[in-house]
Amino acid sequence: MQPLSRLEKLYEGKAKSVYTTADPERLILHFRNDTSAFDGLRIEQLARKGRVNNLFNDFIMRKLEEQGVATQRVALLSDEESVVKRLEMIPIECVVRNIATGSLVKRLGVTDGMDLIPPTFEFFLKNDALHDPMVNDYHIRSFGWASDSEIAAMKETSLRINTILSKRFKEAGMLLVDYKLEFGRFHGELLLGDEFSPDGCRLWDIDTRKKLDKDRFRQGLGGVVEAYEEVAHRLGVPNI
Ligand code: C5P
Repeated sequence: MQPLSRLEKLYEGKAKSVYTTADPERLILHFRNDTSAFDGLRIEQLARKGRVNNLFNDFIMRKLEEQGVATQRVALLSDEESVVKRLEMIPIECVVRNIATGSLVKRLGVTDGMDLIPPTFEFFLKNDALHDPMVNDYHIRSFGWASDSEIAAMKETSLRINTILSKRFKEAGMLLVDYKLEFGRFHGELLLGDEFSPDGCRLWDIDTRKKLDKDRFRQGLGGVVEAYEEVAHRLGVPNI
C-alpha cells in the first residue's frame, strides 16, 4: 500500500498542523518547529523541535499502547509527521500533577515543588481567547462537551497513564511533574489524542531538579531543544 500523503490543511495549531489524507479516517500530524507560550503571545522557531517532538510522541504513544491505553497512533510517516486516526476531539484538557508548580501555585498559593500525594487532576476548557479556564465535571456535562462515561474514562485513563509514565521517567532519572492530555472519539471509543511531548508536560532531573521541558522556553532559560533531546536520549527514543 502507498504511504498516505497530505491532501488539505484541516487545522493549524500553535505547534502542529493537521492534514487530511485520501483515507477519510486518517489524518497526518505535522510537528512544526514553532514554539509558543502565553496563549500564543510569544512564538519562536526552534530548529529540530518538530522532529524531536514527533519521534518522542510516537515513542510514548507506542509504550502506552503496549500497556493497554487506546491512542490515536497509527504510524510514523517521516521525521516530522505521524499518521493518526481522525478523532472527534473533546474540547477539554486533562491535567495530572505529581508536584505543585505552574498555574496551580499561582492559583492556590501553595509551595512550588511540593509533592502531591495523591496526584491531583484538573479539567480545563480548550479556549485561548478565555485563557483555557478551569472547568469541572458539571460544566462538562451541562454544556455537553462530554458524557458521564467519557468524563470518568478521561480521569481514569489520565491517572493510569501517570502510573505508567512516572515509572518510566523515574527509571530514566526524571520526575514527571505534570502533563496535559486531550482525548477524542473514534467510532464511539474514547482514544488518547493530540500529543505527549516536553511541550505539554513538565520533567525535572531527579537529582538536580533541572527543568527539561517547555518551561525552559517560557522562562527564557535557553537550551530548549537540547533538553528535549536529552529527555529522548535518556528514555531510549530511537533515531534522536
Ligand atoms: O500551566 P499549568 O501549570 O496549568 O500546566 C500544567 C501542565 O499542562 C504543564 O505540563 C503544561 O505544559 C501543560 N499544559 C499544556 N497546554 C496548555 C496548558 C497546560 O500543555 N494549554
